[in-house]
Amino acid sequence: MPSPLKAGTLGLGLLVWLALGLAAAQPYRDAGLPTEARVADLLERMTLEEKVGQMTMIDVARLMGTGEWDRGPLNETWVRRVLLERHVGALLSGGGAAPVPNDPESWAEMTNALQRYAVQQTRLGIPLLYGVDAVHGHNNVLGATLYPHNLGLAAAFDPELLERVAEKTARDVRATGVHWNFAPVADLGRDPRWGRYYETFGEDVLLASELVAASVRGLQASGEVAATLKHFLGYSQPLTGRDRDPAFLDPRSLRALHLPPFVSGLAAGARTVMANSGSVNGVPVHASHELLTDLLREELEFGGVLVSDWNDIDKLVSVHRVAADFGEAVAMSVNAGVDMYMVPHDAETFTGTLLALVREGRVSEARIDEAVRRILTLKLELGLFESPYAEVADAAGLVEEERALAREAALAGLTLLENDGVLPLDEGERVLLVGPGADDLSMQLGGWSIGWQGADGAEGLPPGTTVLEGLRAALGERLSYLSDVRDAAAVTEAAQRADAVVVVLGEEPYAEGAGDSPTLELPPAQLELLRTVAAADTPFVVVLLAGRPLLIPDDIWLELSGLIMAYLPGSEGGSALAQALLGLAEPAGRLPFSWPRNVGQLPLTYDALPGVSEAEPRYRFGEGFGYTRFETSRFEAKVQDRSVVVTLELANTGERTGSEVVQLYLERPPLPVMTPERQLVGFEKVRLEPGETRALRLELPLARFAVLPGDVFGSAPAEALPGSYRLWLEGRSLTLELP
Ligand code: BGC
Ligand code: BGC
Repeated sequence: MPSPLKAGTLGLGLLVWLALGLAAAQPYRDAGLPTEARVADLLERMTLEEKVGQMTMIDVARLMGTGEWDRGPLNETWVRRVLLERHVGALLSGGGAAPVPNDPESWAEMTNALQRYAVQQTRLGIPLLYGVDAVHGHNNVLGATLYPHNLGLAAAFDPELLERVAEKTARDVRATGVHWNFAPVADLGRDPRWGRYYETFGEDVLLASELVAASVRGLQASGEVAATLKHFLGYSQPLTGRDRDPAFLDPRSLRALHLPPFVSGLAAGARTVMANSGSVNGVPVHASHELLTDLLREELEFGGVLVSDWNDIDKLVSVHRVAADFGEAVAMSVNAGVDMYMVPHDAETFTGTLLALVREGRVSEARIDEAVRRILTLKLELGLFESPYAEVADAAGLVEEERALAREAALAGLTLLENDGVLPLDEGERVLLVGPGADDLSMQLGGWSIGWQGADGAEGLPPGTTVLEGLRAALGERLSYLSDVRDAAAVTEAAQRADAVVVVLGEEPYAEGAGDSPTLELPPAQLELLRTVAAADTPFVVVLLAGRPLLIPDDIWLELSGLIMAYLPGSEGGSALAQALLGLAEPAGRLPFSWPRNVGQLPLTYDALPGVSEAEPRYRFGEGFGYTRFETSRFEAKVQDRSVVVTLELANTGERTGSEVVQLYLERPPLPVMTPERQLVGFEKVRLEPGETRALRLELPLARFAVLPGDVFGSAPAEALPGSYRLWLEGRSLTLELP
């Protein structure tokens, strides 16, 4: 009898031998081979049906409950039909498509169960790629920490902070067995009426480009999660301001404004790109060879996976009317460059149609192989063949440790826009808190939170702190909170008894088209509350929980003692706001957009071309201050190789620790094309103790000085033209000669 130890060793030896034998027989399983060789081997073995399955992505709702749009346990019949009969290789949880119960462990168990079908029951054992929109933390999961939405993160002007947030998000995503994150949004926020404005990093091309790159670096840091640059290209500026309405963008703005954040995300290594659902200049992007192949593949040399957006091939027939039937639409889109279709419901129709198209020669096998090669490469590079499953225990601990980072991120973005001295609130003051956002976590979180359209509380809310909870913890008895504000006399009386009033207003959560706002107005009940508070003659501070600038009527604006833009600050927005209001920490954000006075001014951006007649915003891009003062000195600049090197000294001359965002703007000389009066060419966030001075050095690549010359119909390649430029730092400027 062999000893148990020996038997174990023997068994192990046998296993290793078997595994090695299998790998030798199936090179694609051999992790020691180069990815390219593994992909080539696998592709060789695949049937056309299997290939087309890899190009298909289905929403997990299809595999749950009844197989329609309800949730519930996995539905064996549908799982088999989709994964085994149709060979589907990718799944997603669209907003809200979470397991029941919606906790991190159940997510890991669900993705593992699905993965087992793919790995153990399909002929070649190709693992699934599972995608989600984790656009501010792992936001579909109850129990996850939700960070501020991108607009608030942009206000922090801090790529390093964003990178940390993205890294944590990716870790959470990976812990639940998800390897693909449809983030970051690389669309520039040029129109606040658009329902997805809060998903952007604001209006400025440099800020957005730097933040997109930071986000990609953070999301992909572990190598186990793929980021997605979305939505390529020109999605964020539909002419009407309404989501997915037609966009008309001249080639120069497309290249100079909308493209650079994508270029920057690609340079940071983004593995996937998602196409724009809408149309640009009369061509739906899902059918645009010029955008999806000539520009993205040939010019920008993108080698990763291009995924469609939700149901958008179908929309070539049903919305855009450029194809007579679904077959024509699929041919157009796949031939234009889409590698994977986010179907998301009906796997049979898409796979059946694509197979027929290949057999009829309307889509070439070479094109199929190209798409599948990219998809398999992605799966291999993410390590899916080696470790397809999630550790359920890793998923369990998603919650607590990230709350501090969520608070830090919220604070970093809070933007103080008005302060007549009321802030920070003094110790000993009696404070009245009112407003629909005062005790509403769901408003802090915004859309894409638990549900697609936001958290409705039906299954509970993720952990977090509201403004009421944050202030009560600090102020105790000195805080009074009036939840019912319908009785104006009661509000007036309570306001008059207080030393200061904090009014938390804003928007109910929304996502995509449901959030389009043609007026940018506060709801009438909120305006009425503001007028009541203003009439009480007690200093009052307005806090806005909103995904966009909202219009503040002049009469109220003139009465404000303080105004903090909080954006959609996430789980810890309430504790961050309490700290900022009380001066325990500083609101450290700067506006990532221009705040309009009325909608007639739109589109309103600080970098508008000269000649715009109503260009004076309520608050300008980059505006915002804290509780201390800064002074700059020794501002100098010189041209060195292909950059401009700027040096300066920054001093905190106030009494508190605080952060400043150094902002350098360029004013170009008269050039053959019009250029904005000012354009951000460099920024840096610096935190200083009172009395501290720091020497700073910023290197600005000359590419930031470039323009796209050329006449109306064309744009010549970007070029930094010679001349005498001015560089602005706050109120002062210096001249730079470019040779
Ligand atoms: C959105 C995308 C998102 C996708 C999956 C679409 O409606 O436009 O941004 O990634 O749904 O949820
Ligand atoms: C999904 C979202 C998706 C949207 C597209 C919703 O049903 O949950 O993820 O973005 O449809 O319209």
